[in-house]
Amino acid sequence: VQQAPIYSAIKRYMDENNLCLHMPGHMGSQGIIVPELEMFARLDFTEIPGLDDLHLAQSVIADAQNLLAKAVGASKSLFLINGATSGVQALLMSLGDGGRVMIPRNAHRSFYGGLVLSGAMPVYIPSEIEPELGIALAVSATEIENVLNLESDINAIMITSPSYYGTCCDIKAIAAVSKRWGKILLVDEAHGAHFPFHTAYPEPALRDGAQAVVNSLHKTWPVLTQGACLHLAEGFVNRDRLISIYSILTTTSPSYPILASMDLARDFMVREGTCYLEQAMLLSREFKPRLNQIKGIRCYDDELQKIPGVKAIDPLKVLIGVQGLGLSGYQVGRILREEYRIQVEIEEQNLILAMFSLFHNRKDWSRFYSALDDLASRYIVNSRRNQRPMHLPPMPQIVMSPRQAFYAHKQRLKLKDCRGQVAGEMVAAYPPGIPCLNPGEMITQEIWEYLRYLQKSGARVQGPEDPNLEYIKIIK
Ligand SMILES: Cc1ncc(COP(=O)(O)O)c(C=O)c1O
Repeated sequence: VQQAPIYSAIKRYMDENNLCLHMPGHMGSQGIIVPELEMFARLDFTEIPGLDDLHLAQSVIADAQNLLAKAVGASKSLFLINGATSGVQALLMSLGDGGRVMIPRNAHRSFYGGLVLSGAMPVYIPSEIEPELGIALAVSATEIENVLNLESDINAIMITSPSYYGTCCDIKAIAAVSKRWGKILLVDEAHGAHFPFHTAYPEPALRDGAQAVVNSLHKTWPVLTQGACLHLAEGFVNRDRLISIYSILTTTSPSYPILASMDLARDFMVREGTCYLEQAMLLSREFKPRLNQIKGIRCYDDELQKIPGVKAIDPLKVLIGVQGLGLSGYQVGRILREEYRIQVEIEEQNLILAMFSLFHNRKDWSRFYSALDDLASRYIVNSRRNQRPMHLPPMPQIVMSPRQAFYAHKQRLKLKDCRGQVAGEMVAAYPPGIPCLNPGEMITQEIWEYLRYLQKSGARVQGPEDPNLEYIKIIK
């Protein structure tokens, strides 16, 4: 460790051997029941003299945030101890009371929380899906410009890049469009915190012209779960308001183990990130083509860049199509877990997604390869599994803001009676994972027909209280 001010301050306090007549109640880990938690609890202090104050950072936390900002080229960085979720919410709230913001239709649920909290009205960027896998991988500058041509009266554009699957948008092109139209560009870069430390990885959004970026550090850095951060570019217009909102959304008792893990991880990434990323990239370059040669599966790689909107791919996300096995992704995931003791990041109808880190070595990549090779040889079929035809949900008709819809009175109604009603809950089928309804949207004839189609096709549906779609919650 070279420079980790928060961690060093905790160590100094521990070395003083004080009688701790302060929070937390486990009293320097002594009250912790199981030994596994004890090590963690030893670092678990609160905001006492010498450990700074996250809400008014002036010493070690301020120093650590400055070091983080310097490491990634931000004008200001803020630690989040409630995940990237709170950063997304803070950014949406920073746009002001109400207003309109352009977002992808398949955005992470934290966007909807942010819309409820801010009262903003969403304007959706239509999704395009990759036909084989049936998933949305990116939004393009052209699509965004098309929406702006129809709806110029928006305050900001907030996009997700990379996607969960590791595909990145052309942020430079999108930033150019935003600039031309005078809009703020915000990026949910939850899965891309490692990008600034190696030039062979996708370009980080901040460098490509985003005005504010959220990183979920715990996803790709060696950071404890919930550790994340917000980066602001020089001249971010809503900076003061954002900092006040950040404070509203942040606990007054931040976890020092999480803060210390972010501080230490930044020090590590600055010193060793490039070297580890290099190793990880070389393993990815070696194993992805090998995985792709296994009969019955397809390991997607650079060819995804041919998809409109996709500019770059994170080498550490390994996206595998399983249609040739005669199994669904859910089944492949279950077999991997039960028979090979491998747990992947996500399983969907047509795919599994494995997430490799900076710390997986050749043995780990090899074990994954051998397991899939073995699994494929046992299950390969001659004809591809019959796939449910993929239909994109119709475009929504928004009747009220997510905030109004959230607070409105709701009741259950039989699907057959729902035409012309306003939805009170979200309905999204997987794949493609793009909501066909969000609270506050009209159940038009077209959407009603789509819901009936989902019901008949037996698609996996997320969001509604009744996943069989017999009933829908509507706003009364
Ligand atoms: C694209 C995206 N944005 C935001 C988040 C929220 O991150 P966190 O879990 O750190 O709150 C996630 C989490 O899965 C995500 O995938």
